Amino acid sequence: MKKAYIETYGCQMNVNDSEVIFSILKEAGYSRTEEISEADLIMANTCSVRDNAEQRIWGRIEAFNQARKGRRGVLVGIAGCMAERLKDKLLETGKVDLVVGPDAYRSLPRLLEAVSPDSPQIDVLLSRDETYSDIKPLRTDRNGVSAFISIMRGCNNVCSYCVVPYTRGAERSREPGSIVREACDVFSRGYREVTLLGQNVDSYLWKDEKETVNFAELLRRVASVSPLLRVRFATSHPKDISDEVIETMAAHENICKHIHLPVQSGSTRMLEKMRRRYSREWYLERISKIRSLIPDCGITTDVIAGFCSETEQDHLDTLSLMEEVGFDWAFMFAYSERPGTLAAKQYPDDVPPEVKNRRLNEIIALQGRKSLERYRSWVGKRVRVLVEGPSKRNPDELCGRASNNMMCVFPSAGQKPGDYVELIVNDCTSATLICSAI
Ligand code: SAH
Ligand code: SF4
Ligand code: F3S
Repeated sequence: MKKAYIETYGCQMNVNDSEVIFSILKEAGYSRTEEISEADLIMANTCSVRDNAEQRIWGRIEAFNQARKGRRGVLVGIAGCMAERLKDKLLETGKVDLVVGPDAYRSLPRLLEAVSPDSPQIDVLLSRDETYSDIKPLRTDRNGVSAFISIMRGCNNVCSYCVVPYTRGAERSREPGSIVREACDVFSRGYREVTLLGQNVDSYLWKDEKETVNFAELLRRVASVSPLLRVRFATSHPKDISDEVIETMAAHENICKHIHLPVQSGSTRMLEKMRRRYSREWYLERISKIRSLIPDCGITTDVIAGFCSETEQDHLDTLSLMEEVGFDWAFMFAYSERPGTLAAKQYPDDVPPEVKNRRLNEIIALQGRKSLERYRSWVGKRVRVLVEGPSKRNPDELCGRASNNMMCVFPSAGQKPGDYVELIVNDCTSATLICSAI
């Protein structure tokens, strides 16, 4: 059997896609290896969301070519968003033999039959209906407790800064029966948590002759697989997250009380320019709704600093929104212009790099203080934690997440991954709750 090695970059959807790729490669006679030096096929599943994500991949392509020196017939392949964005430009470097876009993984066996260093192969066709719904992802490198399940692919929004609609194609939802079956299947194999993935899960919609299923209904169905199976989801879109979804979360104990709700900016003028299709006030109203129905809900976000024409006042609006909401955690980025997007075509990338970075640093510093406040507010409270495994820092301790997604560490009393434990929070850092048995 030949061996395939895959490095995964970018979002959780890519983590799940790599599991789909391994499953397809297995059918084509490849087993998985974690050793690049013994691989017959060396791949990267890539991300294009910011320029530095792509720069990193260029570095890996060099490293892959170093790693295959002196070993004949070893192939280098690029999958994912950068494959879709750059297409044959990757082949033209002479350093890549195989380019396969996010909707073309089923062609891998055919491409691998035909490929050789003299005959590079590419398939970057996007599809309107591919969801890989019948492919069982090969979940080999995860903790055996928590599984990702893709519920939809692509994105129909046109946020002006974002390359995802171009690399992932149009939005399509996966048939709900296959999602519930996959949740049952992973539960029966010992998993205790599933994360339902999509770029905008709130717009999940399945319609056929029999039924219409929206995201809230899908959540109810997955939550009823077992009370011992926790359900998470990402990513929610502020313009689409409905009262019904929030009420469904509140009504089901096993739907985790965490919402990742990317705000991007606190300035309505910037949000309009970003084509997010909500205002600062709309966003804050959604936050109040969440807090009123689920007081303990963990809320995290994404923020972009220095988008086109952003003024000091716009930036202050972002800081004041972050102050007001008090996110548990945030992913924070400097704006990176992506070729082909609306923003690249229409607006100059005119905030100087030093200003972008200064604003980003202010955002990061504020969030650091807020995270510490949010984590501190849990000291003295009880949390129910799903054990994931040994803590990274101390092998005598275990770690796992609370319902609100905060990472918890606690002294081991012999619990196993997949067990639930009731703990009390004694102390914290800005990213961990330090707990003990009650
Ligand atoms: N579908 C999700 C996010 C997908 S991309 C949503 O709509 O929120 C993940 C995050 O990357 C985005 O939320 C945004 O904060 C960031 N991002 C996307 N394009 C970017 C760009 N051109 N420059 C900087 N950050 C970007
Ligand atoms: Fe990108 Fe916007 Fe789609 Fe998210 S919703 S993937 S930010 S276009
Ligand atoms: Fe990156 Fe593609 Fe995900 S651009 S963030 S890997 S959808």
